[in-house]
Amino acid sequence: MHDIEDLKQRAFNKIKDISSNDALEKFRLDYLGRKQGKLTTILRSLKDQSEAERKRIGGEANRFKHKLEVLIERKAQELKQSAKRDDIDITHPPHKIAHGHLHPLTKIERRIRQIFLSLNFSSVVGPEVDTEFYNFDALNIPQNHPAREMWDTLWLADAYRRRRGKQDNLLLRTHTSPMQIRYMLEHEPPFQIIVPGRVFRNEATDASHEINFHQLEGLMVGEDVSLANFMYVMDVFLKRLFNKKVETRYRPSYFPFVEPGLEIDIKLKGKWLEVAGAGMVHPNVFAAVNYDPKKVQGFAFGFGIDRLAMIKYGIDDIRLFYNPDLRFVNQPFK
Ligand code: DAH
Repeated sequence: MHDIEDLKQRAFNKIKDISSNDALEKFRLDYLGRKQGKLTTILRSLKDQSEAERKRIGGEANRFKHKLEVLIERKAQELKQSAKRDDIDITHPPHKIAHGHLHPLTKIERRIRQIFLSLNFSSVVGPEVDTEFYNFDALNIPQNHPAREMWDTLWLADAYRRRRGKQDNLLLRTHTSPMQIRYMLEHEPPFQIIVPGRVFRNEATDASHEINFHQLEGLMVGEDVSLANFMYVMDVFLKRLFNKKVETRYRPSYFPFVEPGLEIDIKLKGKWLEVAGAGMVHPNVFAAVNYDPKKVQGFAFGFGIDRLAMIKYGIDDIRLFYNPDLRFVNQPFK
């Protein structure tokens, strides 16, 4: 009896520490093995005992055997469970969490600004609702001048104008050029600025026309700012924006606020694409802001930001920028 009690205690203590299937099998054989098992040996020796002893020890030993079998089975289950837990690969990449990201127009505008800031330009912004004076007259586009036809203007209603107590006609700016005037009226040369911003046109939309889009105005004024300076700035800007040297072509053109005026084409994948209007600031524009055209000169340019984004990211319809379809905006624009 004493022996069985002792054996029981040792077995129950031992099984607690078992942590592998091999050790468990060894433990089972140690107690219940047919040949050498400790408990098997006790049970086998019963036949040499007296009737009374056989009953007493036999009962005790069988309860122990049964208990041991239950404990062994429980332990086996336990080991199986923890093996399953070990199957979890903690180095496996987790599910990606969806991040917000920048709209392609915001993205390219930031990049453009970065490039010009590195060239010592300042970035300024102007009002989207502007007056006829800044948008047209001061830019050498007087009333009834045929050049006004170049911009399909959205005018604000008279009632709105009166409420604001404005004398001048209000409109949604048709370009970012009016900020040239606003800036020059408040600053003295030399300076160089860019003006990114939204502009509006009253026109039918198609793949390359939107009722609103974005422009990048540029203006550099000083005592001896030349077209050569302008071409250098363009070369650097385009090279950085497209990450490679970009072939350019300058064509004579007409804009009332520059003389000479020109248009810039760039060659990409064998095709010439028009990307900007530009020129040397017209003396009448300098006169409108009280600069002496004999003392200062400068260049100005206007890019379509949407156009640049379409070229850079391979987008073929400008209207996609203003469409809330997430399948478009969720693309990784590179
Ligand atoms: N403002 C012109 C437009 O919207 C673009 C432009 C042309 C801007 C020539 C300039 C410039 O600064 O010099 O069509």
